[in-house]
Amino acid sequence: MVFQFTADLRQPTYPVFKMAENNGTNRMIIVVTPTYKRMTRIPDMLRMANTLSHVKDIHWIVVEDGNKTVPAVKDILERTRIPYTYIAHKTAVGYPRRGWYQRTMALKLIRSNTSQILGSDHEEGVVYFGDDDNSYDIRLFTDYIRNVKTLGIWAVGLVGGTVVEAPKVVDGKVTAFNVKWNPKRRFAVDMAGFAVNLKVVLNSDAVFGTSCKRGGGAPETCLLEDMGLEREDIEPFGHEKEKDREIFVWHTKTSTPNIVQAKKNATKPVPPPETFGYFVEV
Ligand code: UGA
Ligand code: MN
Repeated sequence: MVFQFTADLRQPTYPVFKMAENNGTNRMIIVVTPTYKRMTRIPDMLRMANTLSHVKDIHWIVVEDGNKTVPAVKDILERTRIPYTYIAHKTAVGYPRRGWYQRTMALKLIRSNTSQILGSDHEEGVVYFGDDDNSYDIRLFTDYIRNVKTLGIWAVGLVGGTVVEAPKVVDGKVTAFNVKWNPKRRFAVDMAGFAVNLKVVLNSDAVFGTSCKRGGGAPETCLLEDMGLEREDIEPFGHEKEKDREIFVWHTKTSTPNIVQAKKNATKPVPPPETFGYFVEV
């Protein structure tokens, strides 16, 4: 048998999926991810785990919105071989079911177990709230988050009813936000669009409360304001180029699959979908 090699068979010009090198700092990246049972959660978490596996010096805090942790999620975390903490905190009464309570519990864990999370090799850290269904470029972690000294902010794709939300940067300073929804917020940014240095987290007791009365109910500006941050504190990332600016995080949403259900029967309840012995969170 003869194999035909074509010009398309080539070596990559740079090591895209090798462990990315640190840019002179080994600041620990602490990623906080609320998650909950649904049909698409395992594939969503799998994609996120595959991405985070390429990032050095990272600790992944995953908070299950439920009474107990889920073995299939734990297995995914184990296989990443990155340090992680997986805990369960079912959303408390009064909180919206959108990960607020889970992020609050993660903030408390970070404050009470700082040295265990940092380990002996790290003195500094950065906290990032990464939801389980977004799409992350590895460079978000290596080029942006790792370098956050106080509060880093960058563009997020496909969010807030528009194709991109981004800070408006003039002479290196954020003067406003290019967003459609509620641009008057002090920090008009999605959860995926910022990270805060660990020292900011440790110097405050700010959490996600049961509601956010400011900023049209958005939790992001409430948290950052409660941390005592001002617009002048923002370090913008990814705005340097005049055009062809790249987006490193996308607020994608995985749609619920349309599962063909067994016909309704007046006497018997509808049986769960057949999984042939495979594990699916139905
Ligand atoms: C948007 C933002 O991107 C979120 O960061 C923000 O918390 C949310 O709005 C909000 O309104 O507060 P969106 O994509 O609409 O998020 O919401 P989801 O991705 O469904 O949920 C955000 C995170 O919370 C996810 O990691 C999800 O797994 C988790 N979640 C959601 C729970 O833990 N429990 C739930 O009942 C729902
Ligand atoms: Mn989402």
